[in-house]
Amino acid sequence: MNRSQLPLFPESASSIAPEVDALFYAWTAVSIFFTALIAILILYFIVRYRRKQEDDVGQPERAPVWLEIGWSIIPLVIALAMFAWGTQVFVKIYRPPSDAVVYYGVGKQWMWKFQHPTGQREINTLHVPVGQSIQMKLTSEDVIHSFFVPAFRVKQDALPGRYTSIWFRATKPGTYHLFCAEYCGGEHSKMIGSVIVLEPRDYEAWLAGGQGGQTMTLSGAELFQQLACQTCHGENGSGAGMAGMAARAPRLAGLYNTEVTLADGRKVIADESYIRESILNPMAKVTAGWQPIMPTMQGQVTEEQLTQLIAYVRSLSQQEVK
Ligand code: CUA
Repeated sequence: MNRSQLPLFPESASSIAPEVDALFYAWTAVSIFFTALIAILILYFIVRYRRKQEDDVGQPERAPVWLEIGWSIIPLVIALAMFAWGTQVFVKIYRPPSDAVVYYGVGKQWMWKFQHPTGQREINTLHVPVGQSIQMKLTSEDVIHSFFVPAFRVKQDALPGRYTSIWFRATKPGTYHLFCAEYCGGEHSKMIGSVIVLEPRDYEAWLAGGQGGQTMTLSGAELFQQLACQTCHGENGSGAGMAGMAARAPRLAGLYNTEVTLADGRKVIADESYIRESILNPMAKVTAGWQPIMPTMQGQVTEEQLTQLIAYVRSLSQQEVK
């Protein structure tokens, strides 16, 4: 049987994959070493200290101090080294580089819906350019799903009602498996797809050939008008009142990822999850100094439209923090 029929390891196709693999191999090697050491010592002691005569009685043994200290300190150092190494890789996996481009993914029984920053949408297939850092912001329309691309060594749950994020940088063109890695109902096992990594030129061509053609930010700006958000938040979320009247809602420009003080004194960061909640359930976290007068948009916007609105609010901030 050749490797493609029974691969021991998924292909390695992202910048983080070699690091995850190195960690995995090191852990495996350490585990095998100690398993073998213990097994061999057991066998050796069985023979070495076996009962030789009928009336043999065991003698109390005391291990020398250097041995006691050694087998405490050495495993401690190994365990701490593994912890430090693992943490370092973990942090890398979850902290996107500053040049990462944001894509959105929505899980739904039983499919993945993706939205490119340029507006193109896909189902169960995600086209991405090679060499570009991509941050996936994930959410779900119903239950918990999990975005899993083995070749990239990334897996992140998609939770209803909030946004989670994972990033990757594909290192070679190709088609890679995409799985849902969280049991999510009857057709969980069919919730599969592919990530297609293209050369930048091919990706541009793909974008040009697709429908959409309107960026997420622009779609969000249109929705902002349609839902009449500017009536209270001001044109472009400027917070300026309409027609010379006092503004009735907080300024949205510059809001993204900043700290907001709530009416009850709590402080929250205006991240995606906060913005989403404030659109759907405005009474949950009212900003200090403002009347709780915003109507809910529940039922008027889909999860995908919410991501467009959020992309728009994010675009209103000068120094965009990703
Ligand atoms: Cu979605 Cu399993």
